[in-house]
Amino acid sequence: MTAGLEASPADVAPRYQRFTDRRVLVTGASGGLGGQVCALFRAEGARVIGLDVVPSDGVMACDLADPASIAGVVGAALAELGGLDVLCNVAGIQTFAKLEDLSADLLHRHLAVNTVGPILMAQAVAGSLAESRGNVVTVASISALMGQPYNAAYCASKAGVLLGMRALAVELAGRGIRVNCVSPGGIDTPMITGAAESLPTDVDWTLIAKSQSVIPGFMPPADVAEAILFLASDAAASITAANLVVDRGVIW
Ligand SMILES: NC(=O)c1ccc[n+]([C@@H]2O[C@H](COP(=O)([O-])OP(=O)(O)OC[C@H]3O[C@@H](n4cnc5c(N)ncnc54)[C@H](O)[C@@H]3O)[C@@H](O)[C@H]2O)c1
Repeated sequence: MTAGLEASPADVAPRYQRFTDRRVLVTGASGGLGGQVCALFRAEGARVIGLDVVPSDGVMACDLADPASIAGVVGAALAELGGLDVLCNVAGIQTFAKLEDLSADLLHRHLAVNTVGPILMAQAVAGSLAESRGNVVTVASISALMGQPYNAAYCASKAGVLLGMRALAVELAGRGIRVNCVSPGGIDTPMITGAAESLPTDVDWTLIAKSQSVIPGFMPPADVAEAILFLASDAAASITAANLVVDRGVIW
C-alpha cells in the first residue's frame, strides 16, 4: 500500500495471474508509478526488468535522454529476459515555468525524456515484440489533452508522445504489436511534489483551478498501474491506438 494513503482496491484484491512468465520492461522503475507497475506485474507472475536514470534496488541505469544509453541497456535487458512481451514507458519529467521563463533547454529536455525516449524505446524492442506478438503501454497524461498554464513544455511533450504512439500503433499493427497509452490525472508520487516546487510564486490560481477532478484528491499509483496492466494483458487483445484516461473525472 502507498504510504500515507487509504488502501486502493488494487492493494488488497487477490491478483489474477495474467502475466505468468511474460517478459516485461518498465522505464521509470524507481519512481512512484513505475515502481508500482513493476510490483503488480511481478505479483501476476511476470519477469520484470526496470530501467531508470536514478538507480535503485534491482533497477538498471538508463538515461532516456541519451540514445546510446537506450540502445546499450535495452540490448542487455532483452538478452537477460530472452525476448520481450511488454514494454511500459512510464518514466517522465515535469517542471512548471511561465512562458517568459521557458528556456530552449527546458523544452528540449521535456521532449527528449517524455517524447523521444519512449519512441526510441519502442524502436529498440519492436523486433522482440514482433516475435512475441507483444505490446507497448506508454504513460502520457491528461496534460496531453488540455492546455494547462505554466506547463507548455510538459503539455507539448505529452501530446507529442500520445500521437507518436498512435502512429506506431498503425505502423506496427501488421507485425502483431499493439500500442496504447494511459493518460493519468494527478497521482500521489514524487513528481507531484517536485512539480509543485517548480511552480512560480506569482501564478494566476484562477487558471490553475479551472481543471478539477470530480472525485477529489490525488490517485494512489496502484489505480493507474491497474489500467496499464489491463492494456498490457490479453483481455485488451482488440485494443490498440487507444488512450485510456484515468483521472478521477477531470472537467475543464
Ligand atoms: N504524478 C502525476 O500526477 C502524473 C500525472 C500524469 C502523468 N504522469 C506521468 O506518469 C509517469 C510516472 O511519473 P511518476 O508520477 O511516477 O513520477 P516520478 O517522478 O515518481 O517517476 C518518474 C521516474 O522517471 C525517471 N526518469 C526521469 N528522467 C529520466 C530519464 N532521463 N531516463 C530514465 N528515467 C528517467 C525518474 O528518475 C523517476 O524515477 C510519468 O511519465 C509522468 O509524466 C504523472
